[in-house]
Amino acid sequence: MEVAKIIDTYDRGAVDYEQIMLHYWHIERQPLIDSLQLNPGQTVLDAAVGTGLNLPAYPQGVSVVGVDLSEKMMDEARKKTVAANITFKVADLLNLDFPDNSFDAAASGFTLCVVADPVRALDEILRVTKSGALIAILDYCKSRNPEIQKWQELIFDAALELGFPTGKIKWNALMDYDELIYNSKLPIEVLQDERIENPNPFLCGCQLLLRNSKD
Ligand SMILES: C[S@@+](CC[C@H](N)C(=O)[O-])C[C@H]1O[C@@H](n2cnc3c(N)ncnc32)[C@H](O)[C@@H]1O
Repeated sequence: MEVAKIIDTYDRGAVDYEQIMLHYWHIERQPLIDSLQLNPGQTVLDAAVGTGLNLPAYPQGVSVVGVDLSEKMMDEARKKTVAANITFKVADLLNLDFPDNSFDAAASGFTLCVVADPVRALDEILRVTKSGALIAILDYCKSRNPEIQKWQELIFDAALELGFPTGKIKWNALMDYDELIYNSKLPIEVLQDERIENPNPFLCGCQLLLRNSKD
């Protein structure tokens, strides 16, 4: 999806976004953020922060930089009650406007399945995080079950073009995390790879913990 289309989709979907997520893709965020084992004084990238569903899970003493293309999504995130120190920035995950090694850790919820080039987005996250940084990912993904994959193939075009509900959330229904984390040759170590398999092709996902293993 082009940048303008992403902004338009999420600006239009911002107010309803959490209701949709909580109804269809409600997953507790605390275990995701806890997996980063954050310490006070550390700085974390939340990519892309959206309406801030991860934000209440960050502990006090940690600084979080939430980036997103959609100001309206971040307007919703600004309403969250949080313990951590949060700042927001409009930024494109495919070209992050931060120097190398800016962050101690990163988290990403339901985002790599919506970006045009997830390999590039993860590469950018690796560039701006330090070597050894933990990266926690929760996302929709392609099932490993060929029968479910057939249904995901059927919804692929509609999910990308029309979204669900229409126009509000658009994603790659065939988001392939095996390709991204095992075959992309990015400098990562996979510490945790939990798949959420479901007979409903909309509800397959994964929770991952990666270590940035760049030199
Ligand atoms: C499905 S929402 C996920 C939001 C949040 N992380 C969550 O867990 O609910 C995807 C978000 O990614 C943002 N986004 C999509 N493509 C992006 C890009 N290239 N750069 C930055 N943000 C992007 C959208 O604006 C939207 O807020």
